[in-house]
Amino acid sequence: MLDSKIVVFAKEIVRCAGQELKKAIQQEIICTYKENDHRELLTEFDVKIEEYLIHHIKNNYPDHGIISEEKEEKDDLKGYVWIIDPIDGTTNFINFQNNFAISVALYYNSQPCLGIVYDVMKDHIYWAISGRGSFVNDCRIPPRKPPLLRNAIADISLNSIESFYYKEHIKLFDLAKEIRGHRCSGSASLSICQIALGNIDIYISAKLKSWDFSAATIVLTEVGGYYGNPFAEKVDLTGTPITFMASSSQAIYQQVCERYFCLPKVAVT
Ligand code: IPD
Ligand code: CA
Ligand code: CA
Ligand code: CA
Repeated sequence: MLDSKIVVFAKEIVRCAGQELKKAIQQEIICTYKENDHRELLTEFDVKIEEYLIHHIKNNYPDHGIISEEKEEKDDLKGYVWIIDPIDGTTNFINFQNNFAISVALYYNSQPCLGIVYDVMKDHIYWAISGRGSFVNDCRIPPRKPPLLRNAIADISLNSIESFYYKEHIKLFDLAKEIRGHRCSGSASLSICQIALGNIDIYISAKLKSWDFSAATIVLTEVGGYYGNPFAEKVDLTGTPITFMASSSQAIYQQVCERYFCLPKVAVT
């Protein structure tokens, strides 16, 4: 059972970090690029917020490991490990000053314990302790009612799926024709929380890393949602990019895998 002190601690540092980001958007935000890739944006605040969170975690829990986006060293998944994305949606942070989140998850021996996704500008903290339900601020999120696929809304990270365009067995444009609509939030963690809330139903990316989804998937699974690698490969938590799909139910997940990733039927466990 997770100690309630650690939950209070984690929410507190995430909220304080959020206050720093609210101050940051009052100034001009200067961005650079990682590895000379014009789509991998980096600001001084990605680094500062990550340092702030790691500093407090190390001070309070010195034996815990850390896996985070900007830090070069990545711990393994033994014992307690925090998985951190200091700003999920850096492009939104720079271009809109909105729709970005701080994502912090705690795992124990690779098992999910605590997920926190803070939508800074809305002041919404999505959080869940494994086995104890999901909340947005102090309100419990009700269990997800999955729709029929044709009534679903999907968020597909278009610039991540370029490797899929010419593969015959991947038919995401057919999926787009079948469903009600498509929306793209620009923050994977917030999109996954939108599935938990019942606003959208599917999220797909071909290049997601653990810090993008590890907190939000705890919030999602606590309300009955489902996620995985649609090629039935392992979901890596160390930060290696994976193909990722989250959905409002295991049934919808399987339908999309079978019809649009054209995989053989997976047995329900
Ligand atoms: C990105 C966002 C974006 C997703 C990218 C992520 P970042 O995270 O979650 O929505 O499409 O794959 O890298 O870089 O802003 O933390
Ligand atoms: Ca980034
Ligand atoms: Ca991210
Ligand atoms: Ca980030």
